[in-house]
Amino acid sequence: MNFTVENVNVSFRKERQKSVFGRERQQALKNISLTINQGESLALVGESGSGKSTLGRVLSGLLKPDSGQATMDGHDIYSGRSRSSSLRNQISIVFQDYTTSVNPRFRVGDIIGESLRVLSKSGQAENKSVQSQVASLLDQVGLSASYALRYPHELSGGQLQRVCIARAVAVKPKLIVLDEAISSLDASTQTQVMDLLQELRRLHGFSYFFITHDLTAVTYMCDRIIFLHCGHITESVDRIEDLPWVQDEYARSLLAAVIKIDIEKTG
Ligand SMILES: Nc1ncnc2c1ncn2[C@@H]1O[C@H](COP(=O)(O)OP(=O)(O)OP(=O)(O)O)[C@@H](O)[C@H]1O
Ligand SMILES: [Mg+2]
Repeated sequence: MNFTVENVNVSFRKERQKSVFGRERQQALKNISLTINQGESLALVGESGSGKSTLGRVLSGLLKPDSGQATMDGHDIYSGRSRSSSLRNQISIVFQDYTTSVNPRFRVGDIIGESLRVLSKSGQAENKSVQSQVASLLDQVGLSASYALRYPHELSGGQLQRVCIARAVAVKPKLIVLDEAISSLDASTQTQVMDLLQELRRLHGFSYFFITHDLTAVTYMCDRIIFLHCGHITESVDRIEDLPWVQDEYARSLLAAVIKIDIEKTG
């Protein structure tokens, strides 16, 4: 299954500035086109405010663009039929702000279990109890089964983010949008979660749209990279080996920082 956006434009109303023509609009995405093939991991890199989360939301079916199309295997994600059918099970998103993406009144076991119940309704459920599947998902993100009984406020930020990742993979979606999803985790948990995501990609052919500032994670996780600047795609790198020759200014500054850290570590 492949995912595309074609000539997508998104604008938002500016809150304060009002002109004689009414509220001005700020264009967050300008004529964006891209494709994510089945089993592919595509990185999206760009500075703060460049439009990354906005593009992630368009791809996830959460934000209808002003113009242009987002499609899943050629079907418009925003047409009535696709939206109501199985789309919700095909795409998961892990948000940058995990604190607002879980219901504080649900225990961890119910947060993940809710996703599994969606699967059982669609007849794709595994033949194991929800409880044992939750335990196995928690284990895969490095948390013990006892966390199933805790409430979100009883977890650290990194632990809660891992619960969100477990919830996203539970439905075995075709595409997972990871919006700075692992940035808040410590280095060893990041590696553990990236290994899990790579394993799931190998087993189930998941595709990833990996939004990040971390070029080291990109080289570990992704096949291709696109760079976004002020709502425009400025450059795309089709082979990770070519990353050192990237021209995009922001990409070069990130690259210089990574190289500096490497030199400091080895020197
Ligand atoms: N719901 C909204 N209403 C108004 N403006 C918005 C909204 N969402 C995003 N924007 C604006 O659109 C632009 C792009 O925002 P977006 O969140 O996509 O950036 P980003 O690249 O994800 O940044 P960051 O790295 O800080 O997360 C910003 O200027 C932002 O202020
Ligand atoms: Mg963002």
